[in-house]
Amino acid sequence: MKAMKEENKGKTVLITGASNGFGLEFARLFAEDGYNLVLVSRSTDRMKKLAYELQDRHQLEHVCVVTSDLARAESPREVYEEVTKSGIQVDVLVNNAGAGTYGFFYETDLEREKAIIQLNVTTPVELTKLFLQDMKRRNEGKILNVASVVSHMASPLMAIYGATKAFILSFSEALTNELQDTNITVTALCPGASNTMFFRRAGAAHTKAANGPLSEPAEVAKDGYEALMNGETKIVSGFMNKAQTTATGIVPDSVSAAAMRKMMEEEEGAEHQERRRDDEYHVET
Ligand SMILES: NC(=O)c1ccc[n+]([C@@H]2O[C@H](COP(=O)([O-])OP(=O)(O)OC[C@H]3O[C@@H](n4cnc5c(N)ncnc54)[C@H](OP(=O)(O)O)[C@@H]3O)[C@@H](O)[C@H]2O)c1
Repeated sequence: MKAMKEENKGKTVLITGASNGFGLEFARLFAEDGYNLVLVSRSTDRMKKLAYELQDRHQLEHVCVVTSDLARAESPREVYEEVTKSGIQVDVLVNNAGAGTYGFFYETDLEREKAIIQLNVTTPVELTKLFLQDMKRRNEGKILNVASVVSHMASPLMAIYGATKAFILSFSEALTNELQDTNITVTALCPGASNTMFFRRAGAAHTKAANGPLSEPAEVAKDGYEALMNGETKIVSGFMNKAQTTATGIVPDSVSAAAMRKMMEEEEGAEHQERRRDDEYHVET
């Protein structure tokens, strides 16, 4: 057990998508450093189990679980009101919840894509608007937005997902500039393909990307956490992912898109590994 950092006593982080993958690992890292937790996702039981376990282990002052489907337009305002009405001040906001969908855009389901745009773009924008205004009044705060390596390039066969992540990186970098004379920082974390539920849920578990080398969520979250604490604007997690995003800045966009297309095609003859980390998950988004 790590001793709670005195300077974080009384501070609170709100993490969306805290029931799985990176979000769950973020919760562990913040709790280790003594942050109180507000966990948001649709999986109440999973979050409660995690929150009480971390509260117990790290003697946190308070933990709070908010059950919300963040693909609904009303959800960000509801989450904000629930948290602020409970008298909780959010010192750190982690916009992590996200999902993708796989296939040729002319064949994929538009309603699902609209839900993904809400979840990956509109919800983090609205949560940022609401909590940032409070941070601005206090002239203090930190925001971590989970983008992706695909924020840097087109994503054939996951066109909408890639576009949402390009938005998040651009949005984050613009806010960093706007907030340069304040004590508020915005950090974009860009992970590569990782060993979470993401590919399965997106219907992309059969692709080369999902069956190639994968980053471990604990390592990705640690990279994001450290960059956030250092007030960095952007962190690409992992050496190969750094190399890929650097190369993307040099080669023509069409070449990057073709390389991504290859990664998103079927891994022929591969025994598709079950990358499932648990047996309880939602598939809607
Ligand atoms: N894994 C990768 O390869 C990869 C790479 C780059 C970026 N990312 C990004 O990393 C972030 C986290 O994904 P992950 O890889 O950790 O995937 P994950 O294991 O599938 O976890 C996704 C998290 O988002 C939550 N979520 C999904 N839909 C939601 C909804 N409608 N309402 C509320 N919460 C919802 C899930 O909670 P519930 O299902 O319990 O609601 C879960 O906690 C996402 O933004 C993703 O785009 C992932």
